Amino acid sequence: MTTRLDHSIGDALFDRAQRVIPGGIYGHQTPAFLVAGAFPKFLSAAHGCRVVDPDGHQYIDFMCAYGPMVLGYGDPVVEAAAERQRRLCDVGTLPAPVMVELAEKLVDITTGMDWAMFAKNGSDGCTWSIAVAREATGRDMVAMVGGSYHGVHGWCNAFQRGFPDGERATVLTFSWNDAASLERLFAAHHGKIAAVMITPFRHEGMHDSELPTREFLDSVRRQCTSNGAVMIVDDVRAGFRINIGGSLQHWGVTPDMTVYSKAVANGYPLAVLLGADSLRTPAQGVFYTGTFATQAVPLAASLATIEQLIVRDAIVHMDRVGRRLCNGLAQRASAAGLAVTLSGPPSIPFMTFVADDGGFDRSRTFSAECAGRGAFFHPHHNWFVSMAHSDADIDAALAIAEVGFAQVLAEHGADQA
Ligand SMILES: Cc1ncc(COP(=O)(O)O)c(C=O)c1O
Repeated sequence: MTTRLDHSIGDALFDRAQRVIPGGIYGHQTPAFLVAGAFPKFLSAAHGCRVVDPDGHQYIDFMCAYGPMVLGYGDPVVEAAAERQRRLCDVGTLPAPVMVELAEKLVDITTGMDWAMFAKNGSDGCTWSIAVAREATGRDMVAMVGGSYHGVHGWCNAFQRGFPDGERATVLTFSWNDAASLERLFAAHHGKIAAVMITPFRHEGMHDSELPTREFLDSVRRQCTSNGAVMIVDDVRAGFRINIGGSLQHWGVTPDMTVYSKAVANGYPLAVLLGADSLRTPAQGVFYTGTFATQAVPLAASLATIEQLIVRDAIVHMDRVGRRLCNGLAQRASAAGLAVTLSGPPSIPFMTFVADDGGFDRSRTFSAECAGRGAFFHPHHNWFVSMAHSDADIDAALAIAEVGFAQVLAEHGADQA
């Protein structure tokens, strides 16, 4: 049995939640995706890289709110910028000047992008980018990597329930790192594919976070160009942890459109659609709006976030502490005689146990033991590090992970030779 903390206050809150909220907590934050009894269900406070549950237990957080907290929770510079804007105006009858400043900054730093528009979440950003591609090409079909996550809208909802099959009628799928599978789609649907949407690493649920090969990305780029399709990068999850100019710049590839959300405003709700000049008129033609779409506080927070990412050389820092975490986990797992796979960009790492063979039994034991000792590692979703994770935080988490590996050995036995 893994180490368990007392979660009685959080559990009582969950009982209340179940009476007034379907499922108590829904979506990806449902307790059903974590290990029952081992993880908290709610968080009542957060600072830097640490979160506190309603029972007062503190955790070094390797989820960063599923990505947004790129500088850390409650970053003082971002919070001050947000507060300044809040005093001026947040949701207004017309947009605030900061919208133009942020658009200029994003266009300035993002390779190949000439305009920016704003929304509230990644799902809206991805769906809207496809609408722009359809408007630009006069075509309907969209190609995406099978199983990839692009949000909750009907065309790509991972669970499909509640949406008619027709919503997926225009969606084609190809395989990650398999350029030939995309070639086959273009051949079979010649002149009909409006857009190809890809992510900077493999985003298939419950799958190792495989990185792209350079050949794959080059080929996607070439195929989009030669077939007149729009290449869209869904940078919602990876954005601002790999390259400040857009994640695919790491591999030297430039898309036609980029969608950001999670980390763009250090926790404030914002999504950004960026596009090349050739898509400016179609972007203007697709009616997009939202009561809160131009909310000014997140825009100001985003401007400050981007400036601080640059000033603090945050991407280099996150890569470095991410490598420290991955190397430390690999060493400790190997010392325990357990084979693990560490995948993904170092700043968005993911670990699976080879002996789990595509399942997550050992991951659940490991993450449960770590949660009981104050480190929050999700059992089957990729993790995130932030600018607020110091070497000392990583080392403290590694000391906990060592006990996590020992618990895996105790519960599941040694790996078979
Ligand atoms: C790659 C990717 N695209 C789109 C989305 C959807 O973003 P949101 O949850 O903000 O709607 C997510 C969210 O996890 C994501 O990881």
